[in-house]
Amino acid sequence: ANKSSMPQFIGAIDQGTTSSRFLIFDEAGNVVSSKNIEFSQYYPQPGWHEHDPIEIVSSVEQCIDGAVESFLGQGHDLSSLKAVGITNQRETTVVWDKITGEPLYNAIVWTDTRSADLARSLKQRLGSKEVSDICGLPISTYPSVSKLLWLLENVEKVQEARRQGRLVFGTVDTWLVYKLNGGTERNVFVSDPTNASRTMFMNLEKLQYDDRLRDFFRLEDLELPKIVRSSDLKAYGSLAGTKLKGTRITGCLGDQSAAMVGQKAFYPGLAKNTYGTGCFLLYNVGEKPVMSTHGLLATVAFDFGDEPGQRMYALEGSIAVAGSSVKFLVNRLGLAGKSSEISALAETVEDNGGCVFVTAFSGLFAPYWIDDARGTVFGVTAYTEKGHIARATLEATCFQTRAILDAMKKDSGKALTELAVDGGMCNSDLTMQTQADIIGIPVSRPAMRETTALGAAIAAGLAIGVWKTFDDLKGINSEGKTMFTPRIKEETRQYRYGRWQKAVEMSKGWLG
Ligand code: G3P
Repeated sequence: ANKSSMPQFIGAIDQGTTSSRFLIFDEAGNVVSSKNIEFSQYYPQPGWHEHDPIEIVSSVEQCIDGAVESFLGQGHDLSSLKAVGITNQRETTVVWDKITGEPLYNAIVWTDTRSADLARSLKQRLGSKEVSDICGLPISTYPSVSKLLWLLENVEKVQEARRQGRLVFGTVDTWLVYKLNGGTERNVFVSDPTNASRTMFMNLEKLQYDDRLRDFFRLEDLELPKIVRSSDLKAYGSLAGTKLKGTRITGCLGDQSAAMVGQKAFYPGLAKNTYGTGCFLLYNVGEKPVMSTHGLLATVAFDFGDEPGQRMYALEGSIAVAGSSVKFLVNRLGLAGKSSEISALAETVEDNGGCVFVTAFSGLFAPYWIDDARGTVFGVTAYTEKGHIARATLEATCFQTRAILDAMKKDSGKALTELAVDGGMCNSDLTMQTQADIIGIPVSRPAMRETTALGAAIAAGLAIGVWKTFDDLKGINSEGKTMFTPRIKEETRQYRYGRWQKAVEMSKGWLG
C-alpha cells in the first residue's frame, strides 16, 4: 500500500483522579483499544486526599502495555501508532528530588482541603486581589500553590530539599512527562498552559510565570517547569520505556481542557460539562481571558499556537464532588455493589422525597467557594429510603451545574442554549434528564463518551499532522447524539432549585 493511505493511530494517556487509562484512537476518532486501572486513594485524615506518585506512573505504564498488547493482537503494526497525547487531573501537586527523581511526599490531590487555614490567611495578605486578577483563580485550597505551601511548612524532607536546591515541584502532567521520559537522565521538565494556569504562578494573559505571583507566595527561588504549547512536536520528548518505547509525546492538556477539545468546543460561545470525579463546566470565551465577578475561574482552554483561533480561553465552573459522591454511596455507605447501580436505585423512587444532599466533601467550589462547608443531607424523615438518598446525590451535581450556568450568564451576558456533556455520570439517563429539567435547556450527549482522552489524542495528532485543521475533525463523534429536553414546568424548577439554595446556605460554617 502507498504510505499515505496506511492507517494511522494516536494513543492517549488519561491520568484521572480515580483511574489511569490508555486509549488508542484511529483517524476517525474511534477507540480501537483501551486499558483502565483504578489506583489507590489515600484519605489519611478528614479532608485529606493523597496519591502515590510512583503508582500514578506505574498504572499509566501498565495501561499502555495492556492496550498496546490488544492493539497488536488485532493485527495492527506498532509503527502505525504515531504519537501519544497526555491528559491529566489538574492542580494535584507532586514534589520530588532533583537528583534522584524520588517523590518527597505523596501527591496532594486537588480535592484536598488541609490547606484551609493557610488559604484563609493568604486571602488576608496585601495584594491578594491582584493575584487573582493576574492568574484567574481565587485563593482557596484548590490550586496547586496552597498544597505546595502546606508541604513547605509541614514536611521536613521538602524543607531540606529546598535548602539544598534539590526541590522540584510539578503538576501531574509535568511529573508524568518527566518520568515517562526516563526521569533524571533525560530531564524533560515542562508543563502546558492549561495545567500551568492551575498553579497560581502563571500570568493568564501572557501564559508565562509572573514574578508578582511568586513574590506574593514568597517562592522566588522555586524552579518551575517550562511552559510549552499544548501541542508540540519536540517539547514533551518521547517514551523511554513500555512497549511504546521511542514513541513521541506530542500533546498535553489538563483533563477539562482536553474534554473541551474532545467535544470540539473550539469556538467562542461553545461549552461542555464533564461529570468525572468532580464536574467541570467550561465555556469558550475567545482569544482573551474573561475575569469572572460571579465565582467562576478564568482559565486556558487550549494553546495550539499563535495563529488566529489556535489559543482560546474559558470561563470555568468547578464542582469538587460529582462521581466521587456516587463512589461514596457505594464504597463508604454500601448502598449498591457498583457505581452504575446508583442510577437504578434512584429510579426506585419517584422523587427525592424532600431530601437535598449538599455534597460538600471538599467544601463547596464554584460558584460558592465555601471552604468550611461540609457534606450535609437535609430533609431526612422516617419516610426517607435509600432511593431518596441516591436521587439527592445525583441531583446535587445538577443543582450546582445550574448555579454555575447562572453565574456564567451574568459574567458573559449570554445564556447557553444547549449543554454538551460527557464523563461517567452522563451515562445515567436519569441524571441527564434531571440535569435538563433543572437548567431548563436541552442536554446533548455524544455517542462516544471518552471525550477527555479524545482531546489528548487530538492535541497530539494536530502536532504531527494526522489532522491539520479543526475542520478535519468535523466528522469525529458527531453522529448518534442523545438529546434530553426539559420536561418540568418553570414553577417546579424554581421551587426545586430554591430548596437547593436554602440547603447551601445552611451547610456553611461547619468547620468554623
Ligand atoms: O481540577 C481537577 C480536575 O482536573 C479533575 O478532573 O475528571 O478527575 O474529576 P476529574
